[in-house]
This record gives sequence, structure tokens and C-alpha cells, in this order.
Amino acid sequence: MAATPSITLNTGTKIPAIGLGAAPSVFTPEGVVQSEKWFLTAFKAGYRHFDTASFYRTEPQVGAALRASGIPREEVFVTTKLPPHHTKHVARSFDESLRNFGFNYVDLYLMHLPMTLEYPTGYNAPADLQEMFTAFKVVETPTFNQTWAELESLHSSGRARAIGVSNFSIKTLEQLFKSAKIVPAVNQVEMHPYLAQTELLEYCRKKGILVTAYSPTGKEPVRSDPTIVALAEKYKVTPTQIILAWHLARGVVAIPQSSNEGRQKENITLPTLSAEDVASVTALDRNERIVSKLGPDGKLFGWTAEQYGW
Ligand SMILES: NC(=O)c1ccc[n+]([C@@H]2O[C@H](COP(=O)([O-])OP(=O)(O)OC[C@H]3O[C@@H](n4cnc5c(N)ncnc54)[C@H](OP(=O)(O)O)[C@@H]3O)[C@@H](O)[C@H]2O)c1
Repeated sequence: MAATPSITLNTGTKIPAIGLGAAPSVFTPEGVVQSEKWFLTAFKAGYRHFDTASFYRTEPQVGAALRASGIPREEVFVTTKLPPHHTKHVARSFDESLRNFGFNYVDLYLMHLPMTLEYPTGYNAPADLQEMFTAFKVVETPTFNQTWAELESLHSSGRARAIGVSNFSIKTLEQLFKSAKIVPAVNQVEMHPYLAQTELLEYCRKKGILVTAYSPTGKEPVRSDPTIVALAEKYKVTPTQIILAWHLARGVVAIPQSSNEGRQKENITLPTLSAEDVASVTALDRNERIVSKLGPDGKLFGWTAEQYGW
């Protein structure tokens, strides 16, 4: 088992290739509060990269767990994200994130989604976390090109040490490049063996954008795939370890979420797969979104597959 490596971003900074997905495991106020406990076990298990977002409401818990761990701030890589209803208020939203953490910088700030949303509640998303996913309308501006310019300003202030995007495709990245002065350091997208996104990965590699895989395990459907299970037996590890090792072999950062101490340790103790086994996992690709799926109206956060460029 190899120690999980770090990868160098286009800013020259290193990012640990496995981070802890720090969305709450249950999207309720109690789930948010509870998360501090398992963030602390992750710090103790050796995680030095945490992925959160304003939308997840766990920025305070990441900051509190870090302080409780006694680990110096500069030893940890922290990512957070601008929510799509704050695109008119980027500086305010970013300051609020820093206050939530109790930090004076973040290592990576991502535009969470490419569109702008408006809630009836205005700047504050609805208190009910489920409503956050439904009670909005999509508006035309700011466009993601305009929002990216705001992120570029934050980067020049030094408080967002790297900036990037999330849920971008080749189509939306091409559109971003029409005005971008800074190449995103990262594009965070859903990626797992059933959604290998090889073309997007190649495109990002050529542009110097590091891909981070969210929902990287592909959850139960991928974990129980017979090819994954057979490889787990071959390497004497668990199916999840095979899937995460596949990401590492492809030069992709993965941010698995686990609230369980044993599984947290498992997810940062990974085998090295042979090139042949990497290829057999990639061959499972079926272009299937397991988490960021379109709803019955053919939309996700108000955008169609065509708008996303899927
Ligand atoms: N940018 C975006 O739009 C976006 C969207 C979605 C997610 N994300 C990010 O990606 C992170 C992870 O995504 P995700 O939670 O959807 O998917 P995931 O990490 O692939 O799956 C998490 C689930 O897998 C279980 N699990 C983790 N390790 C396991 C293991 N070794 N064996 C068995 N089960 C295991 C966890 O349960 P236990 O807790 O019980 O271990 C949890 O139910 C999020 O926390 C968030 O940071 C970003």
C-alpha cells in the first residue's frame, strides 16, 4: 500500500490526491453539527485535504475540527465553493466563508456551478436544506464568465490561493476561455468508473487543469460491480479502495466522504493498480451520472444537459 501522493496544481502548490468530502452525511441542521466529530477523526487518520462548500454549511465545522486537531493551518489544504445564488455578491460570500472557517485564506475557491440562481429568500438560501435544491429560479446574469472575473480578483488579493470551477464540461470551459485571464487550477466533476469522463480528463490535462472527482466511489452500484469486486479480491482490499486507486492511477484527485473512522482510514490506504487493471476499470464506463442527475423535468439546478454540455 502506497502513501497517498500529492499533485502539483498549475499555481505550483501541491494538493493531496485524496481529500475528505466534507458535505454533511445527512443534509439536516443536526447532520451539519455532527460533521465536526467525523472531520476530527479524519484529521487524526491523516487527512490533510478537506472539500467543503458554502452550500454544505459545514465550513464552521471544518475550521473547528482543524483547531481541535492542533494541526497547523498551513499543513492542510482546504477547498470551498461559491454558491450559485451568490454570484452577484462574490466578495461578500467569500468573506463570509472565511469567517465561517475562522481562516484568513482558502487554498482553493471554486465556482460551484456554472449558472446563477435566485431564491425567494434572497442572499440567504432557504433554511430548509431540501428547499435549497428546489426553491430557486435561474437567471441570465451574472454569466459564469462574469463570475470568473470576480474569482480572478479574489485570487489577486491572495486570499484565494488557487481558483477553479466545478461541474464544467468541455463546452462550458471553452466558453470560459473566451474571457478568462487565469486558467482554472481545478475542475471538480462527478467521476467514477461508470462516468469515466476520459475526454474531459484529457482536455483538462492539456489545458493544465487538474480534475477532482466528486462522488468518486460511485456508491453502491459501482462498489458492487463484479469487475470491481474481483479486483478487490485480487489486491486483497475493498472495492472502494480499488475505485480510489483507479482515480490516483489516472492522475485525478478524489474526495471520498466517510463519517466512519475505519472507512476514512481505508480510503487513504490504497494499492497501486497495474496498467491493465486500470484499463479494465475504465472500460466499465457507461456515461452514467449517479449523483448529479437530471430530474423528471430534464434539468438539474435549472439547467438542461445541453446547457451543461453533457
Ligand atoms: N462539486 C459538486 O457539485 C459536488 C457534488 C457532490 C459531492 N461533492 C463533494 O464530493 C464529496 C463526496 O461525494 P459523495 O458523498 O456524493 O460520494 P462518495 O464519497 O463517493 O460516497 C460517499 C458514501 O460512500 C460511503 N463510503 C465511503 N467510503 C466507503 C468505504 N470505504 N466503504 C464503503 N462505503 C464507503 C459513505 O458512507 P459512510 O459515511 O458510512 O462511510 C457515503 O455513504 C462530497 O462530500 C462533496 O465534498 C461535490
